[in-house]
Amino acid sequence: MIKVNASTRPAYDAVARALHWLTVLFVAMQFVIGWTMPDVHKDTQPVGLIAWHLGVGSTLVALIVVRVIWRLTHRPTPDDLPPVLGILSRVTHLLLYAALLVVPVLGWVNASSRGWTVRLLGVVPYPALSAPGSAFGHKMGDVHGILAWVLFALIALHVGAALFHRFVLRDHVLQRMLPEAAPSGQNHGERNY
Ligand code: HEM
Ligand code: HEM
Repeated sequence: MIKVNASTRPAYDAVARALHWLTVLFVAMQFVIGWTMPDVHKDTQPVGLIAWHLGVGSTLVALIVVRVIWRLTHRPTPDDLPPVLGILSRVTHLLLYAALLVVPVLGWVNASSRGWTVRLLGVVPYPALSAPGSAFGHKMGDVHGILAWVLFALIALHVGAALFHRFVLRDHVLQRMLPEAAPSGQNHGERNY
């Protein structure tokens, strides 16, 4: 049986944790809106749920950029996972970051090719990433929808791993991304199962 003793303290600082859970909220909204909004055709206008997808998406893009910069300048305390789990976790996190960057950017490329301006909070305009009518931009809309499924699969794997750590390995990996537990007196923050 693998013995895993990741620290009881949250390994990620408060900003990193806030950025993680805000990303979760916004990505979840993007899936719900993306899958329920009307199909986008040549003459579709960016109104209703489509406007929401662009608005939430523009905020998500900014959030991810801030998150990546924060992560590159603030390292979490290392885990003490066995090498195989450590490598698996790092590879999954890297793929999650890649998908978090690529999926929104392709949506943005597609929006630009439709002549739609993406605006932060509906106000500050972002630059166009493709020319209106661009065939490449149009294609990227399809790739955006397909890669959204890849992101979904990575998230399922990631959440499955978090629950596996919590309920099967019973270590403290989940606590690394949760608020610090109040000190519990005599057992110095160790959790009893
Ligand atoms: C992680 C973030 C995102 C997720 C999970 C997501 C998800 C989706 C999904 C599921 C669809 C429907 C695809 C289909 O039915 O084939 C879609 C379509 C679309 N999304 Fe996103 N999206 C995200 C971010 C963005 C961003 C940031 C933008 C633009 C700024 C954007 C713009 C679009 C556009 C224009 C479409 C219509 C594409 C087409 O049908 O050609 N998305 N998105
Ligand atoms: C949209 C859904 C999610 C995305 C995109 C996501 C993304 C990420 C990423 C990229 C990291 C790596 C952080 C870093 O080292 O910089 C991470 C860490 C983490 N996430 Fe998520 N996450 C999601 C949902 C969840 C959920 C629902 C849970 C809990 C059930 C969770 C628990 C954790 C934990 C515990 C860590 C720290 C792991 C470690 O230190 O080894 N995540 N997440």
